Amino acid sequence: MALIDSFGRAIRYLRISVTDRCNLQCEYCRPAGGPLMPTHQEMLTLEEIVRLCRLFVGLGIDRMRLTGGEPLLRRNLIWLVTELTALPGLDELSLTTNAMLLDRFAPELRRAGLGRVNISLDTLDPETFARITRGGQLAPVLAGIEAAVAAGLHPVKINMVVMRDVNAHEIPAMIAFAVRYGLVLRFIETMPVGRAGMRTTPHFVPAEEIVALARAGGGAELIPVERSRERGSGPARYFRIAGSDTEVGIISALSRHFCDTCNRMRLTSRGELVLCLGNVDQVDLKTPLRAGASDAELVEIIRAAVDRKPLRHHFDTGPEVVESREMSGLGG
Ligand code: GTP
Ligand code: 5AD
Repeated sequence: MALIDSFGRAIRYLRISVTDRCNLQCEYCRPAGGPLMPTHQEMLTLEEIVRLCRLFVGLGIDRMRLTGGEPLLRRNLIWLVTELTALPGLDELSLTTNAMLLDRFAPELRRAGLGRVNISLDTLDPETFARITRGGQLAPVLAGIEAAVAAGLHPVKINMVVMRDVNAHEIPAMIAFAVRYGLVLRFIETMPVGRAGMRTTPHFVPAEEIVALARAGGGAELIPVERSRERGSGPARYFRIAGSDTEVGIISALSRHFCDTCNRMRLTSRGELVLCLGNVDQVDLKTPLRAGASDAELVEIIRAAVDRKPLRHHFDTGPEVVESREMSGLGG
């Protein structure tokens, strides 16, 4: 059984944001001065998240990813991982993190049943890192990556948001880093989500140019792979680095969107079900949940929400969509 939307797409993947807090302040993700944070009361409790997830799995969601903010800042996250991985029918639970705290948490996460991690890392240069993250330190992130590999959270994927005049020149160095440490690297086109995301527009580098930059100066050749072994649940297209068995992915939300094969929804820390990153449609699950709705009633609300999932994103059709949300509250 699966959730099928009104365009025939099977929805199997849920991204769950467990907190809006973050210990980095990336320019493209968090607005200056910080996003409007939910109060404790406004956030779903971990028990509420588990209840909803049990219903989602019953509806055919078989892959879940924990996101934030920074998910490792949520208290008792390990408990949540244990509860979710115990749900019969869930094939994979993964996590997207900035890895600042991963050195400490990687072994526990693995023991609790987490499958793998995706790690945001845009640069290998400490100064550029501090600039992009508004003051963050690179060293703990590198230690976190090492800890994830050592803990067997395999594959470890690195997300690099590629920005002209900021880090685009580091593409060859990032490829060498990925090959050396056995990581999967994904290049991400900047997306104009929220006030922070909109600031990235002058730095946008299209996927095609990312491939050319990888090759520049005798660097790496990227050979498209039809059946990637690294293919997760997300939208990346994969390439192999010639002369190695390292795969790199490209996430091209703007230059070549992937809405036709979209398989996912997002649950925010406030309990809203977001049907598309590039549209305003969302459905409140928390209010009925707290008003005592039965499982059957909640399932009906979820099904009706899936029916409203838009055909494609509207990043390009006006500020009303992109300004209404911040990436930091959507979990990327
Ligand atoms: P894998 O299962 O490993 O493929 O994970 P993933 O790529 O789905 O997860 P991750 O959290 O690492 O996200 C990587 C990038 O893909 C982020 O920049 C996300 O914003 C972007 N992304 C994921 N889903 C969507 C989507 O539905 N639309 C758009 N535009 N971008 C998305
Ligand atoms: N454009 C593209 N990617 C973004 N991310 C956060 N904000 C943006 C944006 N405006 C990425 C982060 C993280 C992933 C979940 O989303 O780099 O790795």
